[in-house]
Amino acid sequence: MDLFVKDLKVSYRDKEIIKGISSRFGVGLNLIMGDSGSGKTTFLKALCFLIRFRGVIFFENNKVDEKWIRNNCKLMIQSGFYTEETLIQTVKKPFEFKYNKNKVFDEARFEELLGLFGLSKFSKEDNVNKLSGGELQRLALIRALLLEPKLFLADEPTSNLDENISQVVYEFLRNFCKDRICIVVSHDPIAKSFAKKVYYLTRGGFNG
Ligand SMILES: Nc1ncnc2c1ncn2[C@@H]1O[C@H](COP(=O)(O)OP(=O)(O)OP(=O)(O)O)[C@@H](O)[C@H]1O
Ligand SMILES: [Mg+2]
Repeated sequence: MDLFVKDLKVSYRDKEIIKGISSRFGVGLNLIMGDSGSGKTTFLKALCFLIRFRGVIFFENNKVDEKWIRNNCKLMIQSGFYTEETLIQTVKKPFEFKYNKNKVFDEARFEELLGLFGLSKFSKEDNVNKLSGGELQRLALIRALLLEPKLFLADEPTSNLDENISQVVYEFLRNFCKDRICIVVSHDPIAKSFAKKVYYLTRGGFNG
């Protein structure tokens, strides 16, 4: 299983931010690092068709279109997570979407992940406005993981977390990514030791 990105370019107005990335991403945790403003978020958004781009993306040698992405890809965004009223309503919401109709919400798994990511002090029925920024980030991560996408993209999933819980998250992700393609953007020094491959984004392309 692999994702091949061919000559991907993104421009905002007349400024080219991604200048032709051609790269292959295999199964496992692929880590993208790079300076702030180098285009990491832009690259992830293009991969899941949230912004216009030029170039072609292939999954197992088949050209990927927007429909395939909606059914098989999940992006955990950098900030500004949407919420419903309670924890459980928040994680269940995407299962109502048409393109997730084949997926089944696993409540036991949800509870397990709450415990694993240090959120067991909350009840599933608690209001999400009780959560801190880092706790909300972990809830957003759980929501994305429960969808079990073939292609999992995460934009700085541990940016609001302390070192201990970041470690737990990356340990979990390493295992979660064993049978899927994960592309994670992070500045977190811990992330590197869990990654299968590290890509550095500089001046609109990958280095190293
Ligand atoms: N909607 C937009 N319109 C115009 N320019 C944009 C837009 N979004 C991002 N940019 C510009 O594109 C560049 C790359 O932004 P991007 O958010 O991809 O960076 P990043 O690598 O994710 O940074 P960070 O590490 O701070 O999250 C920046 O210079 C930014 O100002
Ligand atoms: Mg970013």
